[in-house]
Amino acid sequence: MRLKYEKPVITKVETGFMNKFGSSPLYARKIRKDIDGVSVEELVERFGSPLFVISERKLRENYKRLMQAFSSRYPNVQLGWSYKTNYLQAVCAVLHQEGALAEVVSKFEYEKARKLGMEGHQIIFNGPYKPYEALKLAAEEGAVINADHFDEIFELERVAQELGRQIKIGIRLNMDTGIYPQWSRFGFNLESGQAMDAVKRIASGDKLSLNGLHCHIGTFILEPEAYAREVKKMVEFAYEVEDKFGYSIEYIDIGGGFPSRIKLKGTYLSPDVLIPSVEEYAEKITQALYESLRPGDFPKLILETGRAIIDEAEYLITSIVASKRLPDGRKAYVADAGVNLLFTAFWYKFNVELAQEASGANEPAVIYGPLCMNIDVIDEGSMLPPLEKGSRLVFSPVGAYNNTQWMQFIEYRPNVVMVMEDGSVEVIREKEDLSDIERRERLPEKLKLK
Ligand SMILES: Cc1ncc(COP(=O)(O)O)c(C=O)c1O
Repeated sequence: MRLKYEKPVITKVETGFMNKFGSSPLYARKIRKDIDGVSVEELVERFGSPLFVISERKLRENYKRLMQAFSSRYPNVQLGWSYKTNYLQAVCAVLHQEGALAEVVSKFEYEKARKLGMEGHQIIFNGPYKPYEALKLAAEEGAVINADHFDEIFELERVAQELGRQIKIGIRLNMDTGIYPQWSRFGFNLESGQAMDAVKRIASGDKLSLNGLHCHIGTFILEPEAYAREVKKMVEFAYEVEDKFGYSIEYIDIGGGFPSRIKLKGTYLSPDVLIPSVEEYAEKITQALYESLRPGDFPKLILETGRAIIDEAEYLITSIVASKRLPDGRKAYVADAGVNLLFTAFWYKFNVELAQEASGANEPAVIYGPLCMNIDVIDEGSMLPPLEKGSRLVFSPVGAYNNTQWMQFIEYRPNVVMVMEDGSVEVIREKEDLSDIERRERLPEKLKLK
């Protein structure tokens, strides 16, 4: 008998759910009722929802672990805290207390570091745009300045002329370390000879002298070996300019880029498998230093680690404000925090934990934020039990790039608190109200409605 024709059906395989590649490491009803011993419910009662919560203990621990990994292997290590990663004063102050310098990339960040109490010589000034006045002030105040392009070298020469003295500067390099696409927009390219041209220019102008090299190869770099290649190239270049021009390279600044322990969208393996420890980075980097440095040479190794220090020290508590069923059958929730607060939602598959017990079977669910915007999704699919309105979720890690890249779009920004080492809780950034948003606005007289 002939079989009856049946129309073929294409069924979409949802990534993130159980599929033919196995079950993905999804949230399986993990519960977190407190952050450093302070209950989530109490935090929300006192400071509202949504709420960013930073752990002072974890922040200090992460800094110490990183520094221990490097300084136990190499005698001359310094961290420059990358302000753009998180420049809340309390965060910077904790890290400065621990011994970090400030690494800034704009006039605004420079001013922020100075206002917090950092002196010029405790600031590393990177970034592709340093307005002339900021550059001059930084030079006057003795900041470490890493020049990004020829125009900046020319401006620095003018500054030196005006100050009537030679200025020590570093230059930023970019290079092939096997990480693609290569970050080539910052600094001078090494392989094309542009970096050497910059040194020649510095030498021929005679107003500046070169004492440092900087390079930032990218962010969330999963390959410790890339840093070994970076370090080797930087040290070789340092010796080349020392031998040819008589400069003394006092520091090798290898930038930031170590990952935090979180799953990036599009990766399959869990962070525990995929992400090397800071000790593995330290081992590769210091090994490369010992292999390429001449005996007895110990230039300062500067790290600008951002994400790997702060990310896991911060959580976002959010509350469910509604639930619905999508036409494809999926469960969906609306939370009071969205991509306005979680810039990293575009790349991260966050850890989502429940702050209370919940009964009922897990089912795949999407979590939307409160914005009236289709892109406002903070979790595209996790297995969640039925959640009542008012349930709290704890998202992590959220410490890197969210408190700086968040937007005041549609909603106010909420309180940020720090759970201090003694268990007390301090507000470190007050939630906004209308007066914050409208403070700079001016309504022309003839447009006033009453
Ligand atoms: C010059 C520089 N240093 C440090 C960092 C911090 O990087 P990460 O947070 O990946 O460690 C960045 C970030 O892009 C950077 O541009």
